[in-house]
Amino acid sequence: MIIRKSPREIEKIAAAGRLVAETIAHVGALLRPGITTEELDAAAGAFIRARGGIPTSEGYRGYPKAICISPNEVVVHGIPGAHVVREGDLVTIDVGVTLDGAIADSAYTFGVGEIDPEAQRLLDVAQEALAAGIEQAVVGNRVGDISHAVQEVVEGAGFSVVRSLVGHGVGRYYHEDPHIPNYGEPGRGPRLSEGMTIAIEPMITAGSSEVVVADDGWTISTADGSMAAHFEHTVAITADGPRILTPRVGVPNRVRSSTFRP
Ligand code: MF3
Ligand code: CO
Repeated sequence: MIIRKSPREIEKIAAAGRLVAETIAHVGALLRPGITTEELDAAAGAFIRARGGIPTSEGYRGYPKAICISPNEVVVHGIPGAHVVREGDLVTIDVGVTLDGAIADSAYTFGVGEIDPEAQRLLDVAQEALAAGIEQAVVGNRVGDISHAVQEVVEGAGFSVVRSLVGHGVGRYYHEDPHIPNYGEPGRGPRLSEGMTIAIEPMITAGSSEVVVADDGWTISTADGSMAAHFEHTVAITADGPRILTPRVGVPNRVRSSTFRP
């Protein structure tokens, strides 16, 4: 069942979304060679709580940490721990915040210091795919229009979309209907209507689209060890078009991410 939100509820999700974006920027500012993902997680959790939020991931289906941090070949759901960040890493910061009962969800893959040109292209393409998906998030379109737009950008650039992981409705719960796959046919799937709030999240790889789950039950990595990137926004479907509820706030210059797109 798809839950459509009132304008008042959307404003609450937007407030949660602002804190999500600020948290991603805060973690990005701390991201440097030598820091552990555990330290980044602790900083994120404290930052969110100091502003009256709750890290939505913490305790979600038994998830043990405040946010997900996924380095290099890890696609999603990396559990922060002893991993030491290195120059050249791609590090995905995936943050969910619950604020005043409303939930927003966003992810951003940072490049640490000097990164490989092909890794930079992976980041650019993933961001471009997210922007293309958001562009299709308009009243009257269908979920497949979003999915197809994402897939076209990614595969057109010679990269792969992970098929076993999808975006989702979000707002009242962390994961709501509908699923938002990153591949599909235009004109198929549920119709988009005013008040829907969805997380669009291309998860892409430089190699094959196959992924494996680690023994910890969470960490999902590329099967071939290739690099992955993941960009996510929470978006409201409005009469005026897509509204990004997790708009980016700046990241430090030493992080060589591509120019911001929505
Ligand atoms: N934020 C993730 C998403 O994009 C969900 C993480 S669930 C967790 O859907 F339990 F792993 F945190
Ligand atoms: Co999500």
